[in-house]
Amino acid sequence: MENLPFDPAAYEVKTCTLENNTIEYRAFEGLSYCTRPEDPIQVLNLFAPEAFYRGESINGYDLHTAPIFVLNQVGGYMPGPAGVPGPNRNGRGINIIFKCLAHGYVVAAVGVRGRTSGTKSNEIFEGGAIRKEEAVSDHFTGKAPALIVDMKAAIRFLRFHQDRIPGDTEKMVTDGISAGGALSALVGVTGNSPDYEPYLKAIGALEGRDDIFAASCYCPIHNLEHADMAYEWEFCGIWDFHRTKHVIQDGQDVKVPFVGELTEAERENSKALKALFPDYVNSLGLKAPDGMLLTMEPDGTGSFQDYVISLLVASAQHEVETRQSRQGGMAERAIDAVPEELDCLTVEDGKVTGVDWEGYLRFITRMKNVPAFDALDLSSPENGEFGTAAIPARHFTAFAMEHSTAEGAQMAEAQVVKMLNPVEYIGKADTARHWRVRHGAADRDTSMAIPTILALMLRNRGFDVDFRFPWAMPHSGDYDLPELFAWVDSLVK
Ligand code: DHB
Repeated sequence: MENLPFDPAAYEVKTCTLENNTIEYRAFEGLSYCTRPEDPIQVLNLFAPEAFYRGESINGYDLHTAPIFVLNQVGGYMPGPAGVPGPNRNGRGINIIFKCLAHGYVVAAVGVRGRTSGTKSNEIFEGGAIRKEEAVSDHFTGKAPALIVDMKAAIRFLRFHQDRIPGDTEKMVTDGISAGGALSALVGVTGNSPDYEPYLKAIGALEGRDDIFAASCYCPIHNLEHADMAYEWEFCGIWDFHRTKHVIQDGQDVKVPFVGELTEAERENSKALKALFPDYVNSLGLKAPDGMLLTMEPDGTGSFQDYVISLLVASAQHEVETRQSRQGGMAERAIDAVPEELDCLTVEDGKVTGVDWEGYLRFITRMKNVPAFDALDLSSPENGEFGTAAIPARHFTAFAMEHSTAEGAQMAEAQVVKMLNPVEYIGKADTARHWRVRHGAADRDTSMAIPTILALMLRNRGFDVDFRFPWAMPHSGDYDLPELFAWVDSLVK
């Protein structure tokens, strides 16, 4: 495709030194992956260890056999510019791009549109990529399903040039955090689905396959149309919320605690949303790894809840045995939680034998108001994600549409909501064989039920899934890269 070339001679050799580690790499930057971009962010950077071009191998990988990590920097459904090796985007520690190159992987760092693309936005989203404003147009250019469309276009570009680029395009592994983790999951499940074709054509993507080998998803904020009911299944009855917000103080952006109580109306909505969750869970026919059907009683209890609690117990048990809770890669420190010291856990002779579920939830605290995702006043990141070129934000659940407080509020098309939900596509498109899903045991950005459903559905349909709640970890990602890389190596070698 002449309009979307890859020139193997158009590169720079760069070095990067951080914390006494130096990498030397070949950088192919700013590659266009579609012929009709809507925003300059729609480019990718391709990086490979320079040693490969000297005929050397790293960890057994060479120029042709190295897996390709396909990475995004999406947070909060904001635009995610193509990254480069360097510090993490929150300034703490070394980023995954750098670590991948040091380990002998090729990296495709893909720039993708987000919900504020096309507009001037000053929004600061925790964990999002800090970006200078780029194109400004008279309309939004990156609403759903733009992020997944861009990722697919980038993957098709890599495959189209498979004989010219470094790495093995049959070993593409996606990774992302939060909204970026949801993107990684979407790429993983929706391989070659015809649903996205019109959107791919519109931006001038190449034709070809867009399925991948494996997906790594940290705290994926997904299944948005069921996330409100799942959140209230978890937090109904806990009426105080605890989060932080950004304010400008003396010209500086600072994070301050933001604590409050839910209103009466929110409490009523919490109960109503919680009551919707059992029908959804029971409709899925989920099975535990031992084959037991996982169901939910009208009050939210039952074998599904027991299974989630068993994952939490396993998380605490792992901590008791390894004392492994650690710095959150892209987040705050892991919360201070020694299992033996928590009133809500029973630990006897080194064994976690019981957990007081509600006590544990009170310990980690509720973060969000009600509804947690489809806000009645259309103020959430997800409302913004489901806007259109002309409409800043829309609803995406019947519940919020019915209870909306926003004048003239509209509902997103069912097809667009579907195209953003990975669980809708599991096994119905060319789904990646291998999955690694992590959701911190102290994460309150979405219910523990949400990643659990994703992992169970994948496993129930025969896919290979490695799923855990890392102890004490808040909403965060890329905090256990040695284990992530060991997992990828075990699949590839
Ligand atoms: C992210 C976090 C959220 O709580 C949310 O609702 C959407 C996205 C994020 O960190 O990307």
